[in-house]
Amino acid sequence: MNEGTIALVTGANKGIGYEIAAGLGALGWSVGVGVRDEGRREGAVEKLRAAGVDAFGVPLDVTDDASVAAAAGLIEERAGRLDVLVNNAGITGGMPQTPTTVDPATMRAAVETNVIGVIRVTNAMLPLLRRSASPRIVNMSSTVGSLTRQATPGAETGPISAAYAPSKTFLNAVTLQYAKELRDTNILINAGCPGFCATDLNGFRGVRTPEQGAAIAIRLATLPDDGPTGGFFDDAGPVPW
Ligand SMILES: NC(=O)c1ccc[n+]([C@@H]2O[C@H](COP(=O)([O-])OP(=O)(O)OC[C@H]3O[C@@H](n4cnc5c(N)ncnc54)[C@H](OP(=O)(O)O)[C@@H]3O)[C@@H](O)[C@H]2O)c1
Repeated sequence: MNEGTIALVTGANKGIGYEIAAGLGALGWSVGVGVRDEGRREGAVEKLRAAGVDAFGVPLDVTDDASVAAAAGLIEERAGRLDVLVNNAGITGGMPQTPTTVDPATMRAAVETNVIGVIRVTNAMLPLLRRSASPRIVNMSSTVGSLTRQATPGAETGPISAAYAPSKTFLNAVTLQYAKELRDTNILINAGCPGFCATDLNGFRGVRTPEQGAAIAIRLATLPDDGPTGGFFDDAGPVPW
């Protein structure tokens, strides 16, 4: 049994997920680097270890039941519990995606990864999280999923997006349902938005660095026991639903 803090970050081979793993590792935590591709996983683990992080590879495709079950088994064997889960893996489903022309396959892909993937991973990890003294779950969402902002004339809400933005709205709604069910436990679950960061997800058009984007996840992963649950935050504070 590992007595230090154990975290798992999904989609940790690049972009914001990699920086979340690096940031949690810099706290001295042991970080599971959840990555679906073996080469990309080994590359990320090697780079993190070279930076001094106690990183270990976790084969993980969030859309695959067997992969997720095996990932939970690996963490159970290695650490016996999980303290922090960061559901970071995400896809846009491919752009452009105007509602009037969107391919249903694009919708399904975005929801499968961004919503069902989060549920699949969270539920597989919950038995391990329940063994932690201060479990935290962070769901990487986006302000583009804010219905309030979408309905506010002039608000910055990203491109027209039939699949990606609604998938984050769906994820926010699911986060609230988890918070409701887990309210009487010590598990804190929140959604965070990293801001518009330059990553593969947007062809590196973002204006923030992935490291800046990782900050909100690290903050929500390190909340005190009396911290919020069922919230949606970015660096500036609460984001309207
Ligand atoms: N960048 C932004 O401006 C921005 C803004 C708001 C929210 N976000 C959110 O932040 C999170 C990270 O985004 P990012 O910008 O860092 O994107 P990114 O650079 O494209 O990284 C996405 C990560 O998710 C992984 N992934 C995708 N599908 C997966 C699956 N089925 N199983 C496991 N891993 C999978 C990718 O792995 P592969 O390398 O194997 O594809 C990659 O590691 C996402 O949830 C995104 O929606 C980003």
